[in-house]
Amino acid sequence: MPETFYITTPIYYVNGLPHIGTSYTTIAADVFARFQRRRGKDVLFLTGTDEHAPKIAQAAREAGKDPKDFVDELAAAFEQTWKRLEISYDQFIRTTEQRHVNVVQDVFARLRDQGDIYKGTYEGYYCVPDETFWTESQVIKDPDGTVRCPNPECGRPVQRVSEDNYFFRLSAYNDRILEYIESHPKFLEPDFRRNEVLAFVREGLRDVSITRKGEGWGIPVPGDPEFVIYVWFDALLNYLTAVGYGQDEAEFQKWWPANVQLMGKDIFVRFHCTFWPGMLMALGLPLPERLFGHGFWTVEGEKIGKSKGNVVAPDELAAELARQSGCLPDIAVDAIRYFVLREAPFGQDATFSLAALTRRFNTELANDLGNLLNRTLSLVEKYFHSVVPEPESVEETMRNVVASAAADAAEALDDLRPQDALESIWAIVAAGNRYIDEQAPWKLQREGNTARAGTVLYTVLDMLRSAAILLQPFMPRATEAIWTQLGVPADLRAQGWEDAATPHRLPWDIPTRPGAPIFPRIDPKKKQEAVARMEELGNEKVPAAPHPDLPIPAVPEDAAEAGERISIDAFQKVQLKVARIVSAEPIPKAKKLLKLTVDAGEAAPRTLVAGIAEHYQPEDLPGRSIVIVANLEPATIRGVESNGMILAAEAGEHVVLLGPQGDLPPGAKVR
Ligand code: MSP
Repeated sequence: MPETFYITTPIYYVNGLPHIGTSYTTIAADVFARFQRRRGKDVLFLTGTDEHAPKIAQAAREAGKDPKDFVDELAAAFEQTWKRLEISYDQFIRTTEQRHVNVVQDVFARLRDQGDIYKGTYEGYYCVPDETFWTESQVIKDPDGTVRCPNPECGRPVQRVSEDNYFFRLSAYNDRILEYIESHPKFLEPDFRRNEVLAFVREGLRDVSITRKGEGWGIPVPGDPEFVIYVWFDALLNYLTAVGYGQDEAEFQKWWPANVQLMGKDIFVRFHCTFWPGMLMALGLPLPERLFGHGFWTVEGEKIGKSKGNVVAPDELAAELARQSGCLPDIAVDAIRYFVLREAPFGQDATFSLAALTRRFNTELANDLGNLLNRTLSLVEKYFHSVVPEPESVEETMRNVVASAAADAAEALDDLRPQDALESIWAIVAAGNRYIDEQAPWKLQREGNTARAGTVLYTVLDMLRSAAILLQPFMPRATEAIWTQLGVPADLRAQGWEDAATPHRLPWDIPTRPGAPIFPRIDPKKKQEAVARMEELGNEKVPAAPHPDLPIPAVPEDAAEAGERISIDAFQKVQLKVARIVSAEPIPKAKKLLKLTVDAGEAAPRTLVAGIAEHYQPEDLPGRSIVIVANLEPATIRGVESNGMILAAEAGEHVVLLGPQGDLPPGAKVR
């Protein structure tokens, strides 16, 4: 039986959409889950939504919606964003599911029966934005009489609460919690937050108020339905519901206790490190193995918030990055996954800016990694006709670099240090770049030492193979694209850490598939020119070309018409590929244009805009094999991002699409 690995994220409040902060925890959890799967573990990765909070009822009221309809819509939006970000969760739990409501009510009844929950009166305050109870001595009182939340991140006005209430006897577990934390140094991380928790517990834990009266939206207290259960008592139990607690004993035994529970620092000390262990102790259940409280993201130094208007939506950010760089949208998603984990140590705060993202994209992804791949594949194309050369021997120094990078990256990921893992993997990329510069295979080839040039190029390709395996948890799509260009026949998803650490797993004598750069550099000037050019081409009023987006830009039409000759090098810059049309649709208010989705044998389909609407009906196009210009800079035409161009021939009014004469798979190169 493989070892199990149960990892959770907090469940997110559905009073807004995911942003860069909420995505951070989810991306990190995804990387750890993917890594443990690679290591052969049986993984359960849980995420979901927290739906019963008063602030959600309030948001639903403001939106004029019934709370259940409101949470249904937002939970679906969360799932959609997570799919877009390639989050490989195994379960998405919602606290409004009946199975969860049953667990919460059963636990409440049981703890009440055993005396851990008792009835009393609550006198104090409640902060709706923070969903936290505060006492008289904790709140901040302004001279004008406003009473505010003492959480420095919040500071918003609180409600006065004076009501009958149920309490959880957390104080009774104070000593056991303290003793447990002290005797389990790995239980709470990072260390400096563990110290915060220790200080908090040493001050003495108070009993926690766990109901609200007359709130309406929430899980009713069993046998006392005028009360609803406090959202945190409800929410924390999701981690048990998801693995079958009270429903499927075998399933529960298989997964509980969780191996890793991740959360931001905001909900670490009070909720996850004291209240949660107290609840588990009262239930007689083992505590999770590790709780990790990561740092917080700000945007350009400012707290993320709707009122600040700086909520960075990760999918919009990916679209922007794809626009600016010209990479495929899925690759942009990967670049963001990479960026957030590379930018700061996992426990520390970080600040987001487009400038920092651009810098890392250009230097680390485009230059270090992307360029190493491109230049190596170009040399293999030039000297070995795009066939992987056979090496003479294993290059020991490079072998050691790869083996220790793989070991370090594994240790860092086991240890929840994704930034260190990336730095270790980058040692391979940096060594590969240095090695190819020093060995200069172009010189070896010139000197007639083809065998040695082949060994050098093989070694770099094999290092890139290892890097792709190690980077897969971080960038699932981009590593697929690297894998495809390397031409490795095996399935990347079947590769384990051992395959990465072992040299010469790349077969020789196989064809490589060099293609457009996976991470094209963001060049603001080039980008603006490209957009301007393509917008002009898409403009139906431009008289020069009757079918404006057909000519290949490397051969301007007037030059071609004038019979001007171009060099073979100029022509070879244009990458032509076979593609299959997946779907076609008209573009509103552009009578000449169609939006095509095509499969060009890449990780994801491409969208492109073609000026053929007057010659083809959209329904006649799907399934056709065509030829596209694959390395054209992207451009937005009539609001549609076009990633390439189709080829067609014209004679007067007659226009026909060009495609292969025989059967060829999408992605086949046109030479
Ligand atoms: N619903 C509760 C959690 C219940 S878990 C039993 C909650 N939800 S939340 O939507 O407000 O945020 C949850 C988590 O999102 C935070 O703990 C953190 O993991 C993440 N983040 C939210 N904003 C963030 C940043 N600005 N930066 C980093 N992470 C952030 O609290």
